Amino acid sequence: MRLVAITLLTLLATACNSEGGNQTTADNTCSAKVAWSGGDHGSSEMRPGGDCIGCHKSRGEGPNYVVAGTIYGDIADHDNCEGKSAITVQITGADGKVTSVTSNAAGNFSLSNSKGSVKFPYTVQLLYNGKKYGAMATKVSDGSCNTCHTATGETEGPAGRIIAFEE
Ligand code: HEC
Ligand code: HEC
Repeated sequence: MRLVAITLLTLLATACNSEGGNQTTADNTCSAKVAWSGGDHGSSEMRPGGDCIGCHKSRGEGPNYVVAGTIYGDIADHDNCEGKSAITVQITGADGKVTSVTSNAAGNFSLSNSKGSVKFPYTVQLLYNGKKYGAMATKVSDGSCNTCHTATGETEGPAGRIIAFEE
C-alpha cells in the first residue's frame, strides 16, 4: 500500500514538472502542422492562440501577465495551433519604456507582472535576428493580444493572427 502511494506521488510530481513537453498532436489544419493537445495543463506552451490573461484571471490559476499572446505562421491559424518561435516582441509603453519578450516553441510569449510592467496604451514592433518583422502602429490598452488577434479577425480590428513577415 505504502509503495503504491509513493509510486503515485512520483508519477504526479513528474507530470507537473514537464514544462509543456510534447503535449501536442499532428494537425494539418495548422500552418505549423501541429497543435496543443494538453488542455488546461499549465505550461508556457499551453493553449496557443487563447486568451491567456482572461482565462488565468477567471480561473484564479496560472501566472498574472501584463501582456501575453502568440505569434503565428498564418493569419487564420485556429486556437491551439502552434505558432512561430524566436520572434522578439518589442513593446513600447505610453511612457516610452521598451520591453522585449520572445516567442517560445509554441509561438507563445508573455511578461508576468512580477517581471515587469507596461504603461498602456502601447505599440508593438516584431523583430527576428535583429530585423524588423511587422509592427502595430495602433495604440492599444489590452495586454491580451489574442483577444483582438483571433483566427477570424475583427470587423473594426486586426485582420487576424499576429504574423511575422520581413518588412
Ligand atoms: C482556457 C484557460 C486557459 C488559457 C486560454 C491559458 N491558460 Fe495557462 N493556465 C490555465 C490553468 C487552469 C492553469 C493552472 C493549471 C496548472 O498549472 O496545471 C494555467 C497555468 C499556466 C502556467 C503555469 C504553469 C506552471 O508550471 O505552473 C503558465 C506558464 C501558463 N498557464 C501560460 C499560459 C499562456 C502563455 C497562455 C496563452 C498563450 C495560457 N496559459 C492560456 C488556464 C489557461
Ligand atoms: C485592442 C485590440 C488589439 C490588441 C489587444 C492587440 N492588437 Fe495588434 N493590432 C490591432 C489592430 C487593429 C491592428 C491593425 C492596425 C495596425 O497594424 O496598427 C493590429 C496589428 C498588429 C500587428 C501588425 C500586423 C501583423 O500581424 O504583423 C502586429 C505585429 C500586432 N498587432 C501585434 C500585437 C501584439 C504583440 C499584441 C499584444 C502585445 C497586440 N498586437 C495586441 C489590434 C490589437
